[in-house]
Amino acid sequence: NEAIKVGVIGLGTVGQGVLRLLKDNADEITRRVGRPLRVTYASVRDPNKPRDCDLSGVTTVADPMQIARDADVDLIVEAIGGISPARELIETAVGRGISVVTANKALIAEDGNRIFDAARQTGASVAFEAAVAGGIPVIKAVREGLAGNRVERLAGIINGTCNYILTQMQEKGTSFDEALRDAQRLGYAEADPTFDIEGMDSAHKLTILASIAFGVPLDYASVSVEGITKVTPQDIQIAQVFGYRIKLLGIAKRHATGVELCVHPTLVSEKAMIAKVDGVLNSVVVHGNAVGEVGFYGRGAGGDATASAVVADLCDLARTLGVDARHAVPPLAFQPEAVQPLPV
Ligand code: NAP
Ligand code: HSE
Repeated sequence: NEAIKVGVIGLGTVGQGVLRLLKDNADEITRRVGRPLRVTYASVRDPNKPRDCDLSGVTTVADPMQIARDADVDLIVEAIGGISPARELIETAVGRGISVVTANKALIAEDGNRIFDAARQTGASVAFEAAVAGGIPVIKAVREGLAGNRVERLAGIINGTCNYILTQMQEKGTSFDEALRDAQRLGYAEADPTFDIEGMDSAHKLTILASIAFGVPLDYASVSVEGITKVTPQDIQIAQVFGYRIKLLGIAKRHATGVELCVHPTLVSEKAMIAKVDGVLNSVVVHGNAVGEVGFYGRGAGGDATASAVVADLCDLARTLGVDARHAVPPLAFQPEAVQPLPV
């Protein structure tokens, strides 16, 4: 069977993880998709940096726009992060009908409405399972698995870096700065870790999740955000004395007038399931009016876990290659008259 050609833009933690996974699990992936997936192009900013993946048979280019605009590929992975040039790259690719998989929550949360509009013009898709909760397939589960429910509320630990830092501080007495350095070394943190520790990364993910769960337009500005930089070792110790853990939670609640979105450090009883979610693990609990409470749990960051979600999207798109995405499950699916996120 002829291989499906994939271009990967950005070979950092996520991009390298995708190359490794496509190679290591090639047999399983080919069996599931019906055709092999082969990375034929990759873009690297610094060609001299050592990469932890096999680049044999891959044409590497310095200019990522070359892949978005010209390369002979069937699908593209955007894994450079940030708003620009990621947005222009995706818009260029979908403009010529090439579907894109991205892990870029900042871009989807802040500019997703525009990107999905661009994709709709040509019938291309932009898939983003990896943008929320790393390896946990929560986007697909909420969008498709809970499609029959009216979601009333959801809450979760959706930043692996912060959960790792809080856990290290709690369990090992590690300092905030040292725990953050470890999270960076392990590939959990954003290129600019301020996004993690000040709560913006969780807010990006909550924006996306809420749009899917409640049918509200993406509205990042409506999230009330507080990160973990003010949490002290004393706060953690005092919470522990009273039987609590401090967790950075993203919380979304439906009200009669709209949906309230907030991210903040939260005291959770040590008996609660979410209190036991430690280290890089994430967890999301969604309450649907038919199913009741449904929980998701797994690794929220890191190259291999995130690659798992990116490759799942690649498999989905590969199976439906050539099918106009306007006939498929829409990425967000909100109605213009939908209830709106409440202003902060
Ligand atoms: P990363 O390790 O910093 O890698 C970024 C890659 O993009 C690097 O290979 C870099 O090139 C390349 N790059 C950056 N800017 C570029 C530009 N302007 N032109 C060309 N190449 C450029 O980042 P990452 O952790 O893989 O994250 C990538 C994306 O995935 C981000 O949107 C992030 O939020 C998201 N994400 C990450 C994780 C995670 O656990 N790390 C999980 C879920 C989602 P060089 O290597 O040559 O510098
Ligand atoms: N920096 C993010 C985190 C990566 O720590 O959760 C996964 O989205």
